[in-house]
Amino acid sequence: MNSSGASMHKGEKAHPHAAEWDPLDPEVQNDPLTAYDRMRRTRPVAYSSRWGWSVFRHHEVRSILSAPETFSNAVTRHLAVPNGMDPPEHTEYRRIVEACFLPERLARFEARCRKKARAWVRRLVLKGRVEFVQEAALPFAAWTQSNYLGCPTWFQNRLLRWTLAHQQAVRSGNRRELNRLGMRFQQLVIEMLESRPSGPVADPEENLTTWLLRQSVWGRPLSYEELTSLVRNFTAGEIGSLSSALGIVIHFLATHPDLQQHLRAHPSRIPCAVEEILRIHGPLHISRRITTRPVVLCGRQIARGERITIVWIAANRDESVFPQPDEFRFDRNPESSLLWGAGIHACPGAPLARLQLRLFLEELLSQTREWALDPQGLVTRATYPASGFSALPLRLR
Ligand code: HEM
Repeated sequence: MNSSGASMHKGEKAHPHAAEWDPLDPEVQNDPLTAYDRMRRTRPVAYSSRWGWSVFRHHEVRSILSAPETFSNAVTRHLAVPNGMDPPEHTEYRRIVEACFLPERLARFEARCRKKARAWVRRLVLKGRVEFVQEAALPFAAWTQSNYLGCPTWFQNRLLRWTLAHQQAVRSGNRRELNRLGMRFQQLVIEMLESRPSGPVADPEENLTTWLLRQSVWGRPLSYEELTSLVRNFTAGEIGSLSSALGIVIHFLATHPDLQQHLRAHPSRIPCAVEEILRIHGPLHISRRITTRPVVLCGRQIARGERITIVWIAANRDESVFPQPDEFRFDRNPESSLLWGAGIHACPGAPLARLQLRLFLEELLSQTREWALDPQGLVTRATYPASGFSALPLRLR
């Protein structure tokens, strides 16, 4: 893999290690699964100026996740609730985050989400030919995330536009634009919070944003800055991974018609199939850590204060844990999958993500006889930071 494109970021100190690969090399961008597989087999811990030390193997990723005191999440100077925090701060905020996904809250949302998924699928089926990412995956993810939070419709539309602009700024590494978008998001959330009806509400538990406004940390109410960070994590942060996940699953079933028919006949197997498809092709590329002391990973000496990048897609395709990793199997050990992470930062939103994916698939499978890739369209892979597909033309009937 060519590492010549591994340029140094402005203001970055020279590093004693030479770049061993470049995550933004066009070869990696065009086919990240193959590139990450090759790195896992040849250089399981590799340095690059963009990502610091990338970790590709399941075993080392697990060991990082189980040692948060050595691999800190305090990787950014920006407030990131709760993912940029370590205990005890993390524990204080995580309590609130977990309460957002209690089973009774999800159960209340299910009927609304089912209705939306049903109507959405009906429209797709009536059209017969669709570009799935723009016409379904992205807007459905934006609707679900903001609706779960109880945000108004105008917020959903602006949120979707903001998410696409943010992905573009990450892709081009435009820090000034990223800062501008960060401030824009804060204004958007403050506008949304202030537009909420004041005074007591009939059922405050029903609206998650209203509930969040009443939560406290360290004996004081959450600040607007903390609320903005939380809302950003629940919405903008996740529309990308959710829509990628939906696109990946729909593409997989379009290209594996036998499995598609099997799930039509046995819808109770949908949740298990979704987990296995997303293990094969992960919707989330990476997460970051920083070392708090010198460590050794795969024989590589890594100093204190070094950037570590967990490559989820690579770890979940590790053949030492998942033999024939490209093969779809119903009987894999679910405990081994790192789709939702593990340890204290494991995804608290997994139950909501699973619900959306299941409902959408149940509707699509029951309202169609089949769907397949549209030979008249062009399937286009998404590029980092997005995973999956940026265009997915389908024919449904
Ligand atoms: C297919 C969709 C999703 C995938 C694959 C995914 C995956 C992950 C993973 C791997 C982590 C661990 C990150 C780490 O260890 O650094 C994580 C954390 C997190 N996820 Fe998700 N996620 C998804 C959807 C969601 C949704 C829908 C929400 C909320 C509405 C959400 C909220 C969060 C939050 C707040 C964290 C940080 C938790 C902490 O630091 O304690 N995720 N997610």
